[in-house]
Amino acid sequence: MPQSIVTPITHAAIFLVVSINPGKDAEDTIKAFCPDLSALRRTVAVRDHDAQLSCIMGIGSSAWDRLFPDARPKELHPFKEIKGVHHAVSTKGDLLFHIRANRMDICFEMASLIMERIRSVVTVEDEVHGFKYFDARALIGFVDGTENPEDDDAHKAVFIGAEDPEFENGSYVIVQKYLHDLDAWNKLPVEMQEKIIGRKKFTNVELDDESKPDYAHNALTVIERDGEELAILRDNMPFGEIGKGEFGTYFIGYARSPSVTEEMLENMFVGRPKGNYDRLLDFSQPVTGCLFFIPSADFLDDVE
Ligand code: HEM
Repeated sequence: MPQSIVTPITHAAIFLVVSINPGKDAEDTIKAFCPDLSALRRTVAVRDHDAQLSCIMGIGSSAWDRLFPDARPKELHPFKEIKGVHHAVSTKGDLLFHIRANRMDICFEMASLIMERIRSVVTVEDEVHGFKYFDARALIGFVDGTENPEDDDAHKAVFIGAEDPEFENGSYVIVQKYLHDLDAWNKLPVEMQEKIIGRKKFTNVELDDESKPDYAHNALTVIERDGEELAILRDNMPFGEIGKGEFGTYFIGYARSPSVTEEMLENMFVGRPKGNYDRLLDFSQPVTGCLFFIPSADFLDDVE
């Protein structure tokens, strides 16, 4: 069984990225925790089934080698920074917890119970509390998530199959925490914003081919191999702190091969062709960048 990546969009999410401290004790603590994660989720989920709590655990490349040196997923590697017109940074992180529910208190409880178990052996690198903003809009005002694959298409896009049989039902995820310059963005005429995203702002309708520039976000992130369009599953969430003037999008993209998301990033940051980059990045700066492997739920349950 895979982890519950393909789920309906929720009202709240916590993204927690931690590094595992040096030493075998730390590794043993994390390994002892892995098979308990599903029971811990059930402990919290039962308190309100309607909240639809899910919790996904991801493991980074070097942590994988420390925890499970015997076999490794074929495409697992650290997040590669990209220096193009804009810079996609690569930052620290051994474990990702992607916690989603329709209530923030449920997410908060889940994160607290996880940390209770592992706090003594990890260092928190990043913690973001995300919220659904109106009709699933990013803080830049556009509906985010429309073209996500659904049902069988989502499963096909996300889960590893015969290409790496030992890690079947696993997946890869790339996360980036983006900060927006909302003042500058909001000064752009709406027509310009729509060209940058490739959709109408109010109605969310996609721009037709004549009006959509080739630098539009939804042009550069559409990629094909052997005539087939390759999808990723995104579950981005807005976050921010008004007092600090911080307005963000936490990007999270799941795929059965990280090369799909990497190609999208290359198109955005370097450009397709080179120099024809994603103008959204003139107003959005990634301050983190990590890649994790998402083992199947069965794999986590069987960790000894
Ligand atoms: C600042 C961060 C980002 C924001 C605010 C953002 C926002 C959006 C919006 C509003 C759309 C159009 C509606 C939709 O189909 O969801 C979209 C589409 C999309 N985005 Fe992003 N995005 C961000 C970063 C990324 C990154 C880093 C990637 C990939 C590496 C990505 C991949 C995609 C894809 C694949 C689509 C759908 C394209 C299509 O098939 O039409 N996005 N994004």
